[in-house]
Amino acid sequence: MRKKIVAGNWKMNTTVPEGIELLKAVVAKSNEVPAEVGLIVAAPHTHLCCLSEVLEGSKVELSAQNCADHVSGAYTGEISVNMLKSVGCQWTILGHSERRQYYGETDEKLVEKTKLALEAGLGVILCVGENLDEREAGKHFDVCSAQIKNVLYNFSAEDMKKIIVAYEPVWAIGTGKTATAEQAEEIHAHIRKVLADKFGAQVAEDTTILYGGSCKPSNARELFAQKDIDGGLIGGAALKADDFIAIAQSY
Ligand code: 13P
Repeated sequence: MRKKIVAGNWKMNTTVPEGIELLKAVVAKSNEVPAEVGLIVAAPHTHLCCLSEVLEGSKVELSAQNCADHVSGAYTGEISVNMLKSVGCQWTILGHSERRQYYGETDEKLVEKTKLALEAGLGVILCVGENLDEREAGKHFDVCSAQIKNVLYNFSAEDMKKIIVAYEPVWAIGTGKTATAEQAEEIHAHIRKVLADKFGAQVAEDTTILYGGSCKPSNARELFAQKDIDGGLIGGAALKADDFIAIAQSY
């Protein structure tokens, strides 16, 4: 059985004290979330050390939003997988469209980062998704397949146990424009098929595939009701504890 997960991506928001308050509020309400729904919070690097103390003993797991593509050394400003691990991180998001778009994150780099993360014992939330031009040109299936193949086809069925895929159509991120449940479901089913082609039906069946892009309490229920949508990667709405928890209660 694949896991249902609701993950909050705080992006570059909140100061450390604000982040602590937000996480405390999430932790306080986390027992209102069904036991079978996992919660992950992806916070800025500066916050991770403090936040790992706040969530101790709760069901909330901690994620970074990125990691370096080298183990250690002269890479000023970068944060390694072992550093993340050492502050209690269990996950890292990789390949978010904002990183692909603004920071030149390529699929080649993502292969390196995924390798390092898995070796360090971190789980990976790999983001894929098409932009508006690609959607309008009818290329969304091909774009998502290529992103999955370029990165995940370098890994094993065993590795897939530690990998979550997040489908985030770029045109739906922070725009208030959500993909319809049908639009999201058809891509999720397609991603599962692309995974099955390489790893077999069982691994594909067991892989958690999240939807991200203007997901909020008012639309989460319909999205999560789809057969291949196993939860959400939440941006804006994750900055309000009540909304984040309400989304996680939408199953
Ligand atoms: P929004 O929920 O703000 O659209 O962001 C989605 C996202 O990018 C999560 O990673």
